[in-house]
Amino acid sequence: MSKKEYTVGFEIIGTGKAVPPKRVTNDELAKTLDTNDEWIRSHTGIGARHIADDHIACSDLAVEAARNALSWAIERQACAEKTIEELALTVDMVIVGSSTTDYFCCPATACIVQNAIGAKNAGAMDVVNACSSFIYGLETGAGLLSVSNDRRRALVIGAEVLSRFVDWTDRGTCVLFGDGAGAVLLEKTNSPRGISRTILGADGSGAGDLIMKQGGSRYPFKKGDTVVTPPHMEMNGRAVYNFAVGAVTETITTLLKAENLAIEDVALIVPHQANARIVQAAAKRLNVPEGRFFLNIEEYANTSSASIPIALDELNRSGALRTGDLILCVAFGAGLTYGGSLIRW
Ligand code: UT7
Repeated sequence: MSKKEYTVGFEIIGTGKAVPPKRVTNDELAKTLDTNDEWIRSHTGIGARHIADDHIACSDLAVEAARNALSWAIERQACAEKTIEELALTVDMVIVGSSTTDYFCCPATACIVQNAIGAKNAGAMDVVNACSSFIYGLETGAGLLSVSNDRRRALVIGAEVLSRFVDWTDRGTCVLFGDGAGAVLLEKTNSPRGISRTILGADGSGAGDLIMKQGGSRYPFKKGDTVVTPPHMEMNGRAVYNFAVGAVTETITTLLKAENLAIEDVALIVPHQANARIVQAAAKRLNVPEGRFFLNIEEYANTSSASIPIALDELNRSGALRTGDLILCVAFGAGLTYGGSLIRW
């Protein structure tokens, strides 16, 4: 659907983030792992990651990020409500994108968040689609608002506690990930601002390239099993890397072409923060200066579904996004999946 055919817009009226206070540098990891700061930085751009203490679960970070998003909307007078509690009552959908949800099968983490923030009038659901979950969640939120006159606001959150699902003896994966959450409050408006187009895609033939095998119906835990290594992600890094560079490049090209835009029309590209080298390679292919891509991976590492909403919140609060700016968010991840959204700020 082109922008001109929209009768309503889906505007982001609040952003928030939450990261655990514990910050672990590459040098600290190198004390117990055969790795070093130079390798991690030169291969990924990562300098540190935030790691949740044992008592912090996915929903705890999601709730904090959600409250911060509501509070931003109130502070900026983007809504008539004056308190977080009042505003939470106007939320019609709570959507949590995550692959490290509080509970294995049920309930949805979104239900825990819905209760904690007092969004009593909202439906709640999870979008479990790895690093693409936030973009899939954003489109799900906009879609659910668009199909019903009774829905006006959706809280879309990306939240992860990845540190709990990596093999801390596997240097090829554990150094890459971090914990955190980001949230946006989406409102259906008549404004030309907001999401103008989203594309979503998948290539399930790469499902095995980034996978957490144990615990599902394919490899269920059985009575008497001994846990040798807790459930953790396994990755064919090179395959995911190659997929990611192509996905970022093609998603950006497709979105721009569909909207009849040039790359110069986009103020900033906000990519999923998985590896700075993926961004550099995509920038080269697109012939775009690297500086047009926002990167904060040095501080947070790869927070999967949380990386784009954390980036949006940092940009929003720093004043880097001006009203009317066109930004392009692009994600990719396990599945393999990808997606991108063009957003008029
Ligand atoms: O959110 C989406 C999910 N993930 C991604 O997007 C990740 C995509 N892939 C990547 O970012 C890169 O493939 C990695 C960063 C994971 C790996 O970088 P690479 O340049 O593809 O390295 P490699 O796996 O080919 O490994 C090269 C060498 C190996 O040593 P040998 O066999 O050449 O002696 C690894 O054992 O680097 C070694 N290595 C390390 N050395 C020090 C792997 N991890 C580390 C480490 N520290 N942490």
